[in-house]
Parts: sequence; structure tokens; C-alpha cells
Amino acid sequence: MPETTPHGLRRLAFGGDYNPEQWPESVWQEDVRLMREAGVTMVSVGIFSWALLEPEPGSYTFGWLDRVLDLLHANGIRVDLGTPTVAPPAWFYRAHPEALPVTREGVRYAFGSRGAICHSSPAYREAAARITTELARRYGTHPALALWHVHNEYGVPVSACYCDTCAAHFRRWLDTAHGSVEAVNDAWGTAFWGQRYASYEEIDPPRLTPTVGNPAQQLDYRRFADATLRENFVRERDILHRLAPGIPVTTNFMTALSQCDSLDYWSWGREVDLVTNDHYLITDGRRTHVNLAMAADLTRSVAGGAPWLLLEHSTSGVSWQPRNPAKRPGEMARNSLAHVARGSEGAMFFQWRQSRRGAEKFHSSMVPHAGTDSRIWREVVALGADLGTLAEVRGTRTVPDAAMVWDWQSWWAQGLEWRPSEDHDARERADSFYESLYDRHLTVDFAHPEADLSAYPLVVVPALYLVTEAAGLNLRSYVENGGTLVVSYFSGIVDEHDAVHPGAYPGALRDVLGLTVEEWSPLGAGESVRITGPAGDSLPADVWTEFVVPRGAETVWTYADGPAVGRPAVTRHRLGRGTAWYVSTRLDATALDTVLRAACEDAGIDSRDTLPRDVEVVRRSGESGDYLFVLNHTADEAKVPLDAPGTELLGGERADGQLAVPAGAVRVVRLDA
Ligand code: GAL
Repeated sequence: MPETTPHGLRRLAFGGDYNPEQWPESVWQEDVRLMREAGVTMVSVGIFSWALLEPEPGSYTFGWLDRVLDLLHANGIRVDLGTPTVAPPAWFYRAHPEALPVTREGVRYAFGSRGAICHSSPAYREAAARITTELARRYGTHPALALWHVHNEYGVPVSACYCDTCAAHFRRWLDTAHGSVEAVNDAWGTAFWGQRYASYEEIDPPRLTPTVGNPAQQLDYRRFADATLRENFVRERDILHRLAPGIPVTTNFMTALSQCDSLDYWSWGREVDLVTNDHYLITDGRRTHVNLAMAADLTRSVAGGAPWLLLEHSTSGVSWQPRNPAKRPGEMARNSLAHVARGSEGAMFFQWRQSRRGAEKFHSSMVPHAGTDSRIWREVVALGADLGTLAEVRGTRTVPDAAMVWDWQSWWAQGLEWRPSEDHDARERADSFYESLYDRHLTVDFAHPEADLSAYPLVVVPALYLVTEAAGLNLRSYVENGGTLVVSYFSGIVDEHDAVHPGAYPGALRDVLGLTVEEWSPLGAGESVRITGPAGDSLPADVWTEFVVPRGAETVWTYADGPAVGRPAVTRHRLGRGTAWYVSTRLDATALDTVLRAACEDAGIDSRDTLPRDVEVVRRSGESGDYLFVLNHTADEAKVPLDAPGTELLGGERADGQLAVPAGAVRVVRLDA
């Protein structure tokens, strides 16, 4: 069995993508000296090095990589070794231009960047297997090797190809998934607009069509594309397992980035030995630390709650957004330690030394262009020391308070064309529900709709448009057995083929919610309504309203105006030993808090209102102890009450009763046993 943490690494992982091939060997000596100074424990090597390792087909130049790995080993630094299959060399494309991917519009991409791959291409698959085999043979027993890093961020920048090779592959995939052309016709509803197929040969990828293409065909193509990438990962992984037994294999995910939603990470999480994730702050005016917490919670959940590893984030600004602000003093450490609080076994960066050339030369690094006499370097060294101190948290698990149901396939379906309102955004709903729970200081696990939810007192379901019959039954039995559920509008509408569940909306969730929805009426741009609640309180709402008919549920908030005036806006249904809430309109995170507070009472979750906003308190617990991470994202000192006395690890002081955390600082308390 492969290990599930980096082989031979006894500390938290700290380091970054290391690309020594961009520098003369004289710089390598300085690199390892600085790595030692910063307390670097592991680096990722060779991710984009295919052209340098195999300059001509079948002829290999491993000497430079031998020297890099030996040097790192001699300096006690572990290696996360890439298979460079995200960047095939120019010679490969000259021989196989058909391996360049084709867009939905029929345009073939060119060589000269990275990730230009048709994953169905037999030539690509063969070449990728060959270089992977050579690497595994050469380095499988190298003493520096801790982890295999297959490819890089599958699905980015190209997640699907629409070429003829893919068309043939898609037809085979359809046959496996559906069994017959008739079953495909049935699942896709091809009676509509006369799209019926008589044979598989007539079926193509969902290429550019004059108006909306068949939604179920598009949905299946996303599944096919995801499965195709996974097939290629599994092929490389199996080679590595066979030739380097015991060494864990990973590929870096991007779990929470809405622009990278092409992989169903629930399936990917089962294929890797160690879940790893890349996370970058998105500058869109929202609170970046909340988005970060969500990404970390989601990644931990994809790992089934087990320890995972942050394989990339940035020391300061990135280079690919319209505006790329530098991180503020202390922000990098807060980011890194927030990931650790939520289960990461370390904090790694893109990249070690800032490049002088190429597309990413303005992306921050551990060793910046400014050199070591810089704030970034001083903060890197300080973070290395802190992570060294925190080694004892390894193996402990983050303790959740509630769960959010999350399904990439539902997102894919919801993202298709011609929906009731373009203002409704499923991801925005998930973000707002998360933000609301974050502001109640609850640590959130994410769960697949068909997963066992019985461990959670509270489960929220924001905009889960696609719900299978099995998932509907799962949510129902969760409530019957005592759970508290909160569901938002436009959930439970269609099945796995984007077909509306029979009967009134929301077909898959009618019973558990104790209501039907007769019709919805999305609001105009900028329009809003008010809903009034039990204490006469009034909350603003926008985007969406509905005509809800209670069938067992009680009305808690009512529309005070708008198209559904006088009708239920928020309802509560007691079922079995539990309760199911329904929110039929869009409430922002603040308004949502009022509803979630009531649901928390049903769920018996203690109010944590006494904790200041933007002060994050997260627990990791396990054999080595019980650890409270407190991150102060505010500009003022925060006082946090402690349930038990303990020792603050970063300062080494006793903590009792109340913990003072300076503005922008992080404290980690090992609670007394
Ligand atoms: C990641 C990628 C890295 C680097 C980084 C820059 O998505 O894996 O290679 O490009 O972005 O932020």
C-alpha cells in the first residue's frame, strides 16, 4: 500500500515549486543554502521539464535532475517529483499535431504555452506513459523522493477537447454509461427538437450549434471529459505505484476556484493517495480569508476529513488577475496557517525563486526579485520557523460543526443555458451560505448529496439544482433521524439527465420540505422585495421569488411585497425527529444569518456570537493533542475566551481564561489534556 503522507517527511511541508532548470547551476548552491535558512522541508521539482528531460524522442538527459535531487537530499530537503506530462515538448506536437486540443468552435490550439492536450489522443497517452515510466525507473528509489506529483492541475487551462478522436472516445463512453443508443435518446430527451439518433456514429461532441444545444448531451460531455482526464491520471499513477511501491501519488487540485469547476473532485479524491490543493486569493472585493477558509474546508472534505496538503499558494501578489495586489504584512502567514488549521499538513508555494523570464515573472515567490533583504523573505523565514514549531499537529484532524452539500455535477447542470434568471448564480449561493456560517464561527465540512450526513447537527443545501432520487431520499432520512436541514430555492429540480422530476417543484425535495412550488418569478435587475418574520422583523431579498404552497410546512417569513406578496418566503417543516427549512428567495449573507440563527437553535448548535467578526477559531484534534488555531484578520487586538487552559505554541506561553491575539496575528494553543 502506498503511504498517504509524503514519504520520509517528519515535519510539516514547507517549500515551493522549484525550477532550477531556469537558472545556472551556481545559483543552485545558493538556493539550498537559503532553503536551509528558511526551514524548507520539501520542494516540487520537474513539473514542466519534459522538453529538458527528453530533448528528442526516446533520448533522455537525466544528469541535471540527478544533480538537483542529490543536492536536495544532501541538504535534508524532501522532493515532490513531477511527471511533466502537462507540457509535452515541441517535437511531440510536430509529430502529432492532432494531439493539440480543439475548442467547441472548431479552433485547434497551438504549441507555445502549456496544457495544450487532447486527453483522448493515443499518441499523447503513449508518450506520457513513456516519460512517466522512465522517471519512475530512474528515481523510484531515490532517497529524496517523498511524493509523486502527476501532471499539473488537470482541467486547466483546457478541460475538454472537441476533436474527432474525442468524438469516437465519447461514443465508447456513452455506450458504457448508457448501454444503447435508445437509452441515450431517452436520457437526452431527443424527441425534443427532433434530435433523435439512430446509431452512435451520428452522435458528436456538443460542438457549436446555432442555438442552445441539448442540455443532457452537454452534461454528459462534461462527465466524459472529467472521466477522460481521470483515466490519464490513473494510468500514470498505476505506473508509479508499480515501479516505486510505497511512494504516495498526488495531483494538485483547485477545489474551490469557480473558474476551474471542470473536475468532479469527489471522484478524484478517491484516486489519489494524498489530496493536495492549490489556492490563490481572488481580488474581487470580497473577504479573501473567507474564500480561503471555504477552499480549505472543501479540500479537507474531498480528502474525507483526512490530512491533506496545500501544494501551492503565493507569498504575495499573483500575476494573472486584472489587478494583483501585494499581500499585506502578516497576511501570508495568516493564509498559510489558516490552511493548516483546516487540515493541511503544511504550506507550499508557487514558487521558490521568482523567474526572470517567461509568462510568470511578475508572480511573487519565496525568493523575490528584490532578494533576501526584503519583507517577503523575512516573512518566509519566520513562517518556516513557525511551521517547524507546529510539527506536532501533524496527523490531527479539523473538527467540523456543520456541513454544506456540494456537487460539481449539479453546478455543471445549473450552468447550462436558458435558466429562469441569469442573476441566479449557484456558486454565489454557496459562497453566501458559507460566509454566513463562517460569521457564526462554525467550521464547515462539505458533503456529496448521497453521503452519510448523520454526524452533522446542521446541513445546508444552497442551490442544489440537480438532485438524484437517491440524494432526495438521503436528505429526507437525514431529517427524519433528527437532522436540521436548510435548503435554498432552485434546488431539487432535475435528475442526473437534467430532466425535471415529475410533478410540482421541487420534485426531489417536496416531501422533506413539506411544500410545493407552483411557479417562480425571478425579479428584474436591481429589483428587491422584503420579507417579514416572526418578530415583525423585515429582511431584504432579491433575484428570485416563488409561489410556495405549504403542504405540512409552517410559514416563518412572508413576502411583504413583490410578485409573491402575502405568500410564504421562508418555511419550516418538522419531519420525524428533525426539521427542514426552505428559503425561497435570495438573502445576502447578513439576512441569511437571521434564518441560520433560527436553524442553529433547532440543531442545538451553541451560539458563538461573543467571538469578534473576522477572528477565526478552528480546532484540530487527534492523538498528539487538541489544538485551537486563532487567526485575527482584523486591525485590532482580539480577546478570545478559552474553554480550557493550555500552552500557546508560537510564543511558548501559558494561556488561561482568555487569549489575547494581536491585530493580524495567529496563535495556536495546545489545550491541556
Ligand atoms: C497555478 C499553477 C502554477 C502557477 C500558479 C501561478 O495554477 O499550477 O504552475 O502557474 O498557478 O499562480
